[in-house]
Amino acid sequence: MNRCPLVAGNWKMNGLIVSLAEIAAMRTVYDVGLKARVELVVCPPATLIGLALDIATQGGLGLGGQDCHAAASGAHTGDISAEMLKDAGASYVIVGHSERRTDHGETSAIVRVKAKAALRAGLTPIICVGETRAQREAGEALSVVGRQIEESVPAEAPETIVVAYEPVWAIGTGLTPTPEDVAQMHAFARERIEAQLGGGKSESVRILYGGSVKPGNAGELMSVANVDGALVGGASLTAKDVMAIATAYR
Ligand code: 13P
Repeated sequence: MNRCPLVAGNWKMNGLIVSLAEIAAMRTVYDVGLKARVELVVCPPATLIGLALDIATQGGLGLGGQDCHAAASGAHTGDISAEMLKDAGASYVIVGHSERRTDHGETSAIVRVKAKAALRAGLTPIICVGETRAQREAGEALSVVGRQIEESVPAEAPETIVVAYEPVWAIGTGLTPTPEDVAQMHAFARERIEAQLGGGKSESVRILYGGSVKPGNAGELMSVANVDGALVGGASLTAKDVMAIATAYR
C-alpha cells in the first residue's frame, strides 16, 4: 500500500503575523523532489489561516485548523466551524488533541462529532489519540488508545482520514516511546481503525506519530513500520526545524 507520508505542524497557540515568514521560508526547502516524497501541512492559529493561504499555496504547502465546532454555524461565541476553516483555505483540521481533551473536557464522543463535521465541510480530520503516563505505566496504553479509536473515529469515515498517535507524556517533554513501542502501537492502531472502517480501508489511512519529534529523532521515528508521518508541535514553529524533520523523507 502506497501511503504518502504527511508531516503536519501544529503551532498550537503560537504565531503572529510576523510568523508567516516561517511558512515562506519552508517553501524554499520544499522542492520538487521533497514534494514527491512527503506532504507538508501547517496548522497555524485560525487567525493566520487566511493570511497564510497565498504563501502556503504558492509553495505547495497545505493548511489546517487546530479544532472545529460540530455545527456549521450558529450561536457559539468564540468557536470556529469546519466550514469556516475550509472557507479560509484549510484542507485539514486537527480534532481531539490531548490539549483539547484536557483543557476543554472533550470526550471521544465529542471528537467523533467534530471529525464528522470536518468531513461534512470537505476537510480531512487529523484525529488524535494517546495515553497518559499513568495509563502507560499501568499497562493500559493499548486498551486506552483502542477505546479512543473506537469512540473517536466515525465508522462511516473514508480512508482519507488521518489518525495521530500522540502519547500525552511525550508532548513537549523531549521524551519519546521506543521505536518498538511505536511499532506496536501503530500496528495495533491500524487493526482498530480497520475494525471501525472495514473493507481494508485502514491500509490507506495515514497514522502519524506525534510527541517530541525533532530533527534529531525524526529519521528513526519515521522509519518505524506503520508510521506514515509526524504531527509536530514545538519544532514546527521554525522553518529550519520542521524542514529538517520533513527532510527525513528525502
Ligand atoms: P511537541 O512536538 O511540541 O512535543 O508537540 C506534539 C504535539 O502535541 C503535536 O500536536
